[in-house]
Amino acid sequence: AITRHYKFNIELKNVTRLCQTTSIVTVNGKFPGPRVIAREGDRLVVKVVNHVAKNVSIHWHGIRQLQSGWADGPSYITQCPIQKNQSYVYNFTITGQRGTLFWHAHISWLRATVYGPLIILPKHNASYPFAKPYKEVTIMLGERFKSDPVAIINQALQTGAGPNVSEAYTLNGLPGPLYNCSAKDTYKLKVKPGKTYLIRLINAALNDELFFSIANHTFTVVEADANYVKPFTTNILLLAPGQTTNVLLRTKPTTPNATFYMLARPYFTGQGTFDNTTVAGILEYESSSSSSTKLKNRPLIRPVLPAINATSFVANFSSKFRSLNSAQFPARVPRKVDQNFFFTVGLGNRPCPKNQTCQGPNGTKFAASINNISFPLPSTALLQSYFFGKSNGVYTSDFPSFPINPFNYTGTPPNNTFVTNGTKVVVLSFNTSVEVVLQDTSILGAESHPLHLHGFNFFVVGQGFGNFDPKNDPKNYNLVDPVERNTVGVPSGGWLAIRFQADNPGVWLMHCHFDVHLSWGLGMAWIVLDGKLPNQKLPPPPTDLPRC
Ligand code: C2O
Repeated sequence: AITRHYKFNIELKNVTRLCQTTSIVTVNGKFPGPRVIAREGDRLVVKVVNHVAKNVSIHWHGIRQLQSGWADGPSYITQCPIQKNQSYVYNFTITGQRGTLFWHAHISWLRATVYGPLIILPKHNASYPFAKPYKEVTIMLGERFKSDPVAIINQALQTGAGPNVSEAYTLNGLPGPLYNCSAKDTYKLKVKPGKTYLIRLINAALNDELFFSIANHTFTVVEADANYVKPFTTNILLLAPGQTTNVLLRTKPTTPNATFYMLARPYFTGQGTFDNTTVAGILEYESSSSSSTKLKNRPLIRPVLPAINATSFVANFSSKFRSLNSAQFPARVPRKVDQNFFFTVGLGNRPCPKNQTCQGPNGTKFAASINNISFPLPSTALLQSYFFGKSNGVYTSDFPSFPINPFNYTGTPPNNTFVTNGTKVVVLSFNTSVEVVLQDTSILGAESHPLHLHGFNFFVVGQGFGNFDPKNDPKNYNLVDPVERNTVGVPSGGWLAIRFQADNPGVWLMHCHFDVHLSWGLGMAWIVLDGKLPNQKLPPPPTDLPRC
């Protein structure tokens, strides 16, 4: 294992897409940002220097951060953001993980432009549990906004209305030929016939789950969120924001007389507006013989994607994921549960403050919540130092294990269910095994919510539609080979049961990875106490930890 050093300069860059030039926040002037690559066991040392007026912090999405919770990155949770002309060194070791992850800004909506791949290769002398691919490629799905994403969400939080949606989706930063004025900004994947490519897909979009397909080609899924899965084949993938999926793509044995579109567009069942557009890229076979004019005249074939609201396709697709559960990569599913939680997740609304007019539903403000509690980030203090520094006042440790006023979650929603605000957390003893049932609610409409847990992977032991039945549903849990991930969509109008072992001391955010829902408060935090073993102590904060 080695130590790998990176330098991230946060700087502005003019980027032109769809015939519009905007100044965006980037890392090292790149959009999408630079690839970070390491091997399992390596130490990563990334110096982030902020040269822009906006505050920033960087999250290493999916990295366990064992005993390095100060490097996790969510602003106001594990650190205060890095201010202009300040810097912070993220320093952590990648333990027991390999696969495709990504890094992104973790403050306001800055991750719209500040993100990049984080690739962890197996150790030297270790191999993949599948034949070595001919080549590896990374495809990042993203969103392009014509105005400043941070201004968009700030305005929406002011008025209480839903924020503006993006103008385009992107593949590796490029919107592609189906948008006006965008044909020259098309992602092209050039392939050779008869080869196997490993495609590392990352959904870095802010607010949309995306279907992805390549015409006339089939994928073999081999990994999800940097965990190997039992291989299965599919023509269509779905990735929620925060999810990563590795697939093998076997190209046709001879160069076909056509080129193929790869398309991505959203899965959406909610009530509000969304960006209903399609990004296209091109899969192109290299051919030695044919001239370039002949290449140009090849027909383009489009894949067929499911309907925008294809919830049964999505349920069927997600049920195909199983842990590889091999001798080398066993699924360590917690068999017994020390603490059970039942969390309702969904949208709600908040009363309009006096002497203000609000543009949310019925003159209220949009909100989102877990157990009807909306989680505001502490704006001047850092949760981790408050807890581990043994001072108090910024949070309360009374996050309810069950909803306080139960109701028929997926039936006709009660009118005006006002949520309350609270920076409430759950405190767990070291190594508690936890089960959380996540129940979608239909207040303001049923909608899938991609829940992301910092600091841990979890096992998805059960899922279903309608209201969770505590008597019968647990009988059908999969405790043998459930998929292990860090982000999973709570089904629209349904529930999901996850388990994790709280073996990592620190303060760990759990939230919806739709940035708009996080901004509306759909999150909470777990505080995991230090273990008794001397080496389980959370080390003290680094000296350059930013102050608020
Ligand atoms: Cu990928 Cu808390 O985020």
